[in-house]
Amino acid sequence: MRIVMIGSGYVGLVSGACLAALGHDVVCVDKSRDKIEALQAGKVPIYEPGLEMVIADNCAAGRLSFSGDLVGPVAAADAVFIAVGTPSRLVDGHADLSHVYAAAREIAAAATGFTVVVTKSTVPVGTGDEIERIFREEFPQKDIAVVSNPEFLREGAAISDFRRPDRIVVGSDDERSTELMRDIYEALDLKEMPLYFCERRTAELIKYASNAFLAMKITFINEMADLCEELGADVQKVAKGMGMDRRIGDKFLQAGPGFGGSCFPKDTLALVKTAQDYDRPLKLIETTVAINENRKRAMGRRVIAACDGSVRGKRIGVLGLTFKPNTDDMREAPSIAIIRTLLDGGADVHVYDPAGMEAARAVLGAVKYRRNAYEVAEGADAIVLVTEWDQFKSLDLPRLKDLMKSPVVVDLRNVFDEDEMIGHGFQLVPLGKRPRSAYPARTLFHAVPPELAWNPLL
Ligand code: UDX
Repeated sequence: MRIVMIGSGYVGLVSGACLAALGHDVVCVDKSRDKIEALQAGKVPIYEPGLEMVIADNCAAGRLSFSGDLVGPVAAADAVFIAVGTPSRLVDGHADLSHVYAAAREIAAAATGFTVVVTKSTVPVGTGDEIERIFREEFPQKDIAVVSNPEFLREGAAISDFRRPDRIVVGSDDERSTELMRDIYEALDLKEMPLYFCERRTAELIKYASNAFLAMKITFINEMADLCEELGADVQKVAKGMGMDRRIGDKFLQAGPGFGGSCFPKDTLALVKTAQDYDRPLKLIETTVAINENRKRAMGRRVIAACDGSVRGKRIGVLGLTFKPNTDDMREAPSIAIIRTLLDGGADVHVYDPAGMEAARAVLGAVKYRRNAYEVAEGADAIVLVTEWDQFKSLDLPRLKDLMKSPVVVDLRNVFDEDEMIGHGFQLVPLGKRPRSAYPARTLFHAVPPELAWNPLL
């Protein structure tokens, strides 16, 4: 099949490369000349484990190429995927669809013969209908169908998520498109092909509903973590006991500083807005959004509480900046709010992340960038672990302690083993359980005072 992928970002590049690996002829298009030139030179502009090899192999096989021009590739294409960004509109939190509609018009103008336009980007329910209206009214002579095929790729695991999907959702309202989409994905050659066909609007909502539910599930265990600290329970054990129930499942029950990334924050907000527009407010998701935003801020105050209530003039080390491990993505990362609170409190903040340092420079304030965890620990009054990169799980603890001015470690991902840390003389502040080390007798101030509670929806 001849496929064009419009947008060569996290979703477009992975989807395009993996579709080429299925044997299709794929052209990834992007308006950024720099990005296209980098890709044509064999450089991959995003951090995604395994992607570089998939791209290299399929470029070498002649199945994958990159272009700044979409006219030629679209004219020859059977299917054109739209994988451009749909960021939150700052003014009202709705998804900004300007890039989607611009791409749709350019595709229609260039299309020849029957062409399926596939929305791969996460788009609000009804976007496919609007694109179809544009085609019908502005390009009546073109034979184009519109299909929804939302992505369910996790950054850092995107290639395996593409190759072994739990489901491939296809929202199609006509037979020709359905058959073409089946042909595209049949090549996955999975025993149980998880192709799920439904109406287009249903497919669009499945994406939002899935992300909103996962975000709510994470927020649920984060609230349980706070309660555990008061009750003297252990949130990791609560999560394990819950997850043994197959109806609940053990995934996405890891308590942390709040969810970040380019999807959950944006998609939960967009879904809330859509529901409000239809006068069917989603109170559960509205609350999820508010709790999550406040939690990220509260984590900074948690570090301050662990430093006798003030970090003014103190050196605080931050391990991990990206919104999750195995990515370089800083979008909505909890570290941003945490570091802002520490800087506002007068701390001297030193940071390290295995992959996110360059992206962090664009969003963090006056922090000091160090080359590794041990430099971050040098003279530190406290260290806070924000992102659970594997390399932080095997640190030389005696060396770390010797480097620190005071051995206080605030672990926001429960990466460290309490017994081990206490054995090495650390004062460990875990998440969702009462600190056992010789921790200054002070309740952890992480409840959000009413005057500080921020609700992005009000
Ligand atoms: C998510 C969805 O998982 C994916 O299906 C969708 O296509 C895109 O959005 P992604 O944002 O890449 O993927 O990362 P994900 O692994 O879902 O984590 C999102 C956030 O939730 C991260 O900040 C992560 O730290 C946090 N998280 C995740 C938790 O705090 N606890 C968990 O148990 C899982």
